[in-house]
Amino acid sequence: MKTLIYFLLILVLAACGTKETSQVPERIDSTYVIQGNVIAKIAFETISSELKQAMQAGGIEHALNYCNENAYPITDSLARAHQVSIRRVSNKNRNPRNEANKMEEFLIKGIGIDLGEGKELTPKLVLKDDTILFYKPIITQPLCLTCHGTPDRELAFRTDTLIRKLYPRDKAIGYQNNQVRGLWRIGFKHQ
Ligand code: HEC
Repeated sequence: MKTLIYFLLILVLAACGTKETSQVPERIDSTYVIQGNVIAKIAFETISSELKQAMQAGGIEHALNYCNENAYPITDSLARAHQVSIRRVSNKNRNPRNEANKMEEFLIKGIGIDLGEGKELTPKLVLKDDTILFYKPIITQPLCLTCHGTPDRELAFRTDTLIRKLYPRDKAIGYQNNQVRGLWRIGFKHQ
Protein backbone atom coordinates (compact mmCIF):
# COMPACT_ATOMS: atom_id res chain seq x y z
CA MET A 1 0.00 0.00 0.00
CA LYS A 2 2.72 2.46 1.03
CA THR A 3 4.57 1.85 -2.20
CA LEU A 4 1.43 2.62 -4.16
CA ILE A 5 0.86 5.82 -2.22
CA TYR A 6 4.35 7.01 -3.09
CA PHE A 7 3.95 5.87 -6.67
CA LEU A 8 0.75 7.87 -6.81
CA LEU A 9 2.42 10.91 -5.26
CA ILE A 10 5.25 10.84 -7.77
CA LEU A 11 2.80 10.58 -10.64
CA VAL A 12 0.58 13.33 -9.25
CA LEU A 13 3.57 15.62 -8.73
CA ALA A 14 4.87 14.86 -12.19
CA ALA A 15 1.45 15.42 -13.71
CA CYS A 16 0.87 18.67 -11.82
CA GLY A 17 4.11 20.20 -13.07
CA THR A 18 3.97 23.84 -12.12
CA LYS A 19 0.69 23.55 -10.27
CA GLU A 20 0.35 23.99 -6.55
CA THR A 21 1.51 20.76 -4.92
CA SER A 22 0.59 21.50 -1.35
CA GLN A 23 -1.73 18.51 -1.07
CA VAL A 24 0.02 15.84 0.98
CA PRO A 25 -0.04 12.26 -0.27
CA GLU A 26 -1.89 10.94 2.75
CA ARG A 27 -4.71 13.38 2.08
CA ILE A 28 -4.96 12.51 -1.59
CA ASP A 29 -4.86 8.88 -0.65
CA SER A 30 -7.38 8.93 2.17
CA THR A 31 -9.93 11.09 0.30
CA TYR A 32 -10.17 8.65 -2.58
CA VAL A 33 -9.96 5.60 -0.37
CA ILE A 34 -12.79 6.87 1.84
CA GLN A 35 -14.99 7.79 -1.13
CA GLY A 36 -14.12 4.59 -2.98
CA ASN A 37 -15.01 2.46 0.02
CA VAL A 38 -18.35 4.23 0.44
CA ILE A 39 -19.28 3.87 -3.25
CA ALA A 40 -18.14 0.23 -3.46
CA LYS A 41 -20.19 -0.57 -0.35
CA ILE A 42 -23.31 1.06 -1.79
CA ALA A 43 -22.78 -0.71 -5.13
CA PHE A 44 -22.25 -4.08 -3.47
CA GLU A 45 -25.30 -3.68 -1.22
CA THR A 46 -27.48 -2.56 -4.14
CA ILE A 47 -26.46 -5.46 -6.37
CA SER A 48 -26.72 -7.98 -3.50
CA SER A 49 -30.16 -6.88 -2.43
CA GLU A 50 -31.47 -6.82 -6.02
CA LEU A 51 -30.00 -10.29 -6.51
CA LYS A 52 -31.61 -11.66 -3.33
CA GLN A 53 -34.97 -10.15 -4.28
CA ALA A 54 -34.76 -11.67 -7.76
CA MET A 55 -33.87 -15.07 -6.27
CA GLN A 56 -36.79 -14.90 -3.86
CA ALA A 57 -39.18 -13.74 -6.56
CA GLY A 58 -38.38 -16.30 -9.24
CA GLY A 59 -35.52 -18.61 -8.25
CA ILE A 60 -31.98 -18.86 -9.54
CA GLU A 61 -32.77 -18.83 -13.23
CA HIS A 62 -34.86 -15.70 -12.92
CA ALA A 63 -32.02 -14.11 -10.91
CA LEU A 64 -29.52 -15.08 -13.61
CA ASN A 65 -31.56 -13.41 -16.32
CA TYR A 66 -32.08 -10.46 -14.02
CA CYS A 67 -28.30 -10.08 -13.47
CA ASN A 68 -27.68 -10.48 -17.17
CA GLU A 69 -30.01 -7.58 -17.96
CA ASN A 70 -29.49 -5.36 -14.93
CA ALA A 71 -25.93 -5.61 -13.60
CA TYR A 72 -24.71 -2.84 -15.91
CA PRO A 73 -27.76 -0.55 -15.61
CA ILE A 74 -27.46 -0.76 -11.79
CA THR A 75 -23.75 0.13 -11.64
CA ASP A 76 -24.14 2.73 -14.42
CA SER A 77 -26.89 4.58 -12.59
CA LEU A 78 -24.87 4.57 -9.34
CA ALA A 79 -21.87 5.82 -11.31
CA ARG A 80 -23.87 8.75 -12.71
CA ALA A 81 -25.23 9.61 -9.26
CA HIS A 82 -21.70 9.69 -7.79
CA GLN A 83 -19.99 11.17 -10.88
CA VAL A 84 -17.47 8.34 -11.09
CA SER A 85 -17.09 5.23 -13.22
CA ILE A 86 -17.96 1.90 -11.57
CA ARG A 87 -16.94 -1.47 -12.94
CA ARG A 88 -16.42 -5.00 -11.69
CA VAL A 89 -13.46 -6.79 -13.22
CA SER A 90 -12.26 -10.36 -12.91
CA ASN A 91 -9.47 -12.63 -14.16
CA LYS A 92 -12.20 -15.31 -14.47
CA ASN A 93 -14.94 -13.14 -15.92
CA ARG A 94 -18.46 -14.09 -16.88
CA ASN A 95 -19.37 -11.06 -18.96
CA PRO A 96 -16.63 -10.47 -21.58
CA ARG A 97 -16.84 -6.72 -20.80
CA ASN A 98 -15.54 -7.42 -17.28
CA GLU A 99 -12.20 -8.91 -18.22
CA ALA A 100 -9.35 -7.72 -15.98
CA ASN A 101 -6.32 -6.19 -17.70
CA LYS A 102 -2.76 -7.36 -16.92
CA MET A 103 -2.27 -4.95 -14.03
CA GLU A 104 -5.64 -5.92 -12.54
CA GLU A 105 -4.84 -9.61 -12.90
CA PHE A 106 -1.63 -8.94 -11.00
CA LEU A 107 -3.59 -7.18 -8.23
CA ILE A 108 -6.07 -10.08 -8.04
CA LYS A 109 -3.25 -12.63 -7.72
CA GLY A 110 -1.61 -10.58 -4.96
CA ILE A 111 -4.90 -10.32 -3.08
CA GLY A 112 -5.37 -14.10 -3.40
CA ILE A 113 -1.97 -14.64 -1.76
CA ASP A 114 -2.76 -12.15 1.03
CA LEU A 115 -6.11 -13.82 1.60
CA GLY A 116 -4.48 -17.26 1.81
CA GLU A 117 -1.98 -15.94 4.35
CA GLY A 118 -4.75 -14.36 6.42
CA LYS A 119 -3.44 -10.81 5.84
CA GLU A 120 -5.69 -7.78 5.97
CA LEU A 121 -6.97 -6.83 2.50
CA THR A 122 -6.56 -3.16 1.72
CA PRO A 123 -7.92 -1.16 -1.24
CA LYS A 124 -5.40 0.05 -3.82
CA LEU A 125 -5.12 3.32 -5.73
CA VAL A 126 -3.59 3.59 -9.18
CA LEU A 127 -3.19 6.71 -11.29
CA LYS A 128 -3.97 6.15 -14.95
CA ASP A 129 -3.83 9.18 -17.27
CA ASP A 130 -6.15 11.72 -15.62
CA THR A 131 -8.07 9.15 -13.60
CA ILE A 132 -7.47 7.79 -10.12
CA LEU A 133 -8.58 4.18 -9.98
CA PHE A 134 -9.70 2.74 -6.66
CA TYR A 135 -9.61 -1.06 -6.46
CA LYS A 136 -11.32 -3.13 -3.79
CA PRO A 137 -11.41 -6.94 -3.61
CA ILE A 138 -14.70 -8.80 -4.11
CA ILE A 139 -14.68 -11.95 -1.98
CA THR A 140 -17.01 -14.91 -2.45
CA GLN A 141 -19.64 -15.87 0.11
CA PRO A 142 -21.71 -19.08 0.22
CA LEU A 143 -24.58 -17.41 -1.71
CA CYS A 144 -22.30 -16.63 -4.66
CA LEU A 145 -21.55 -20.31 -5.24
CA THR A 146 -25.10 -20.90 -6.49
CA CYS A 147 -23.97 -19.21 -9.71
CA HIS A 148 -20.15 -19.23 -9.41
CA GLY A 149 -19.48 -22.58 -7.68
CA THR A 150 -18.57 -26.01 -9.01
CA PRO A 151 -20.93 -27.79 -11.46
CA ASP A 152 -22.79 -30.71 -9.86
CA ARG A 153 -21.90 -29.41 -6.43
CA GLU A 154 -23.23 -25.92 -5.63
CA LEU A 155 -24.00 -25.19 -9.27
CA ALA A 156 -27.13 -27.07 -10.35
CA PHE A 157 -27.25 -28.56 -13.84
CA ARG A 158 -30.05 -26.22 -14.98
CA THR A 159 -28.20 -23.17 -13.70
CA ASP A 160 -25.02 -24.26 -15.45
CA THR A 161 -26.93 -24.78 -18.71
CA LEU A 162 -28.50 -21.33 -18.58
CA ILE A 163 -25.15 -19.70 -17.75
CA ARG A 164 -23.57 -21.34 -20.81
CA LYS A 165 -26.45 -20.12 -22.94
CA LEU A 166 -26.22 -16.53 -21.71
CA TYR A 167 -22.41 -16.47 -21.50
CA PRO A 168 -20.84 -18.96 -23.92
CA ARG A 169 -17.34 -17.85 -22.85
CA ASP A 170 -18.01 -17.89 -19.09
CA LYS A 171 -14.97 -18.42 -16.89
CA ALA A 172 -16.60 -17.52 -13.56
CA ILE A 173 -17.29 -20.98 -12.12
CA GLY A 174 -15.36 -23.31 -9.83
CA TYR A 175 -15.12 -20.82 -6.96
CA GLN A 176 -15.16 -21.75 -3.30
CA ASN A 177 -16.21 -19.67 -0.35
CA ASN A 178 -13.82 -16.85 0.69
CA GLN A 179 -11.88 -16.52 -2.59
CA VAL A 180 -11.13 -13.42 -4.66
CA ARG A 181 -13.88 -13.23 -7.26
CA GLY A 182 -12.65 -9.94 -8.72
CA LEU A 183 -12.31 -6.25 -8.01
CA TRP A 184 -14.51 -3.21 -7.77
CA ARG A 185 -12.94 -0.49 -9.89
CA ILE A 186 -14.09 3.04 -9.14
CA GLY A 187 -12.62 5.74 -11.38
CA PHE A 188 -12.32 9.33 -10.16
CA LYS A 189 -11.42 12.07 -12.60
CA HIS A 190 -8.33 13.72 -11.19
CA GLN A 191 -8.45 17.52 -11.35
C1 HEC B 1 -28.17 -15.71 -9.61
C2 HEC B 1 -26.80 -15.97 -10.04
C3 HEC B 1 -25.67 -15.19 -9.42
C4 HEC B 1 -25.33 -15.14 -8.10
C5 HEC B 1 -26.03 -15.77 -6.92
C6 HEC B 1 -24.13 -14.33 -8.05
N1 HEC B 1 -23.75 -13.92 -9.30
FE1 HEC B 1 -22.10 -12.87 -9.81
N2 HEC B 1 -22.70 -12.79 -11.72
C7 HEC B 1 -23.84 -13.39 -12.21
C8 HEC B 1 -24.02 -13.00 -13.60
C9 HEC B 1 -25.15 -13.42 -14.53
C10 HEC B 1 -22.95 -12.12 -13.91
C11 HEC B 1 -22.69 -11.39 -15.22
C12 HEC B 1 -23.37 -10.02 -15.15
C13 HEC B 1 -23.18 -9.20 -16.41
O1 HEC B 1 -23.58 -9.67 -17.48
O2 HEC B 1 -22.62 -8.09 -16.30
C14 HEC B 1 -22.16 -12.03 -12.70
C15 HEC B 1 -21.02 -11.26 -12.61
C16 HEC B 1 -20.28 -11.10 -11.47
C17 HEC B 1 -19.08 -10.28 -11.38
C18 HEC B 1 -18.48 -9.41 -12.49
C19 HEC B 1 -17.33 -10.03 -13.16
C20 HEC B 1 -17.71 -11.06 -14.22
O3 HEC B 1 -17.34 -12.21 -14.01
O4 HEC B 1 -18.37 -10.72 -15.22
C21 HEC B 1 -18.63 -10.39 -10.11
C22 HEC B 1 -17.40 -9.74 -9.52
C23 HEC B 1 -19.56 -11.25 -9.41
N3 HEC B 1 -20.53 -11.68 -10.26
C24 HEC B 1 -19.44 -11.56 -8.07
C25 HEC B 1 -20.44 -12.22 -7.36
C26 HEC B 1 -20.42 -12.37 -5.92
C27 HEC B 1 -19.32 -11.86 -5.00
C28 HEC B 1 -21.57 -13.02 -5.58
C29 HEC B 1 -22.05 -13.35 -4.18
C30 HEC B 1 -22.19 -12.25 -3.25
C31 HEC B 1 -22.29 -13.31 -6.81
N4 HEC B 1 -21.57 -12.80 -7.86
C32 HEC B 1 -23.47 -14.01 -6.88
C33 HEC B 1 -24.68 -14.25 -11.53
C34 HEC B 1 -24.69 -14.42 -10.16
